[in-house]
Amino acid sequence: MRPARTAVIVPAAGRGERLGPGAPKALRSLAGQPILVHAVRAVAAARDVDLVVVAAPDDAIEVTRSLLSGIEHDAQLIVVAGGETRQDSVARGLLALPSDVDVVLVHDAARPLVPPEVVDRVVAAVRSGAQAVIPVLAVVDTIKEVDGDGSVTRTVDRSILRAVQTPQGFRRDVLQQAHASCDAADVTDDAGLVESQGVMVSTVAGAEEAFKITRPLDLVLAEAVLARRRASDGVG
Ligand code: CTP
Ligand code: MG
Repeated sequence: MRPARTAVIVPAAGRGERLGPGAPKALRSLAGQPILVHAVRAVAAARDVDLVVVAAPDDAIEVTRSLLSGIEHDAQLIVVAGGETRQDSVARGLLALPSDVDVVLVHDAARPLVPPEVVDRVVAAVRSGAQAVIPVLAVVDTIKEVDGDGSVTRTVDRSILRAVQTPQGFRRDVLQQAHASCDAADVTDDAGLVESQGVMVSTVAGAEEAFKITRPLDLVLAEAVLARRRASDGVG
């Protein structure tokens, strides 16, 4: 029997409305290449990733396949049509998984600069027995609760808060079960789904460079990060 495998589902079907008008976010250019190409290259570069399943905008499946066919990596690649919501897109990726996959990560295409070490940490934690794992960072801003008029009602204790990134990692059966039994519109990540099923979610260290490209200024930051990487590699 072949050993069980690790897959990464990359939801990439969002429109990128907060980034402003243009192509779907995952297909927009970052330092001359689509954001999705950077993201797939980053996860495929992780040590233990065997398969990458991209949930693409449903009107751009063939474009996405041809964009990704030029990337050199050892992982197998599957492109499927994404859905109306991020949760639908992940669910469609789950349906495409071969039966020998037992660990599944979900990684936003919109986090193209995730260091491969973060992916490796998440895989290692699931392989060591965790049912669900998320990469996190300390919260740097002071966080306050406000009422409907915008008046402050409370300052939250920042020391117990964490900002959550992707890739999030799961035992395949745990994530599939959560997707099958939960359809909460207000859940914004996959860990939220499994939490709602009473599954314990553990944390590993995230990385600042795993930030999500959401608004125009995030693209400026991403370009700067890539320029710094190129300078320190002595390339370009
Ligand atoms: N996503 C998806 N399918 C959807 C909606 C989102 O696959 N129907 C993906 C996005 O492509 C992105 C990730 O989920 O990689 C995180 O979502 P977000 O940052 O919100 O991206 P968008 O939905 O594209 O952006 P916006 O909300 O500004 O439109
Ligand atoms: Mg969105």
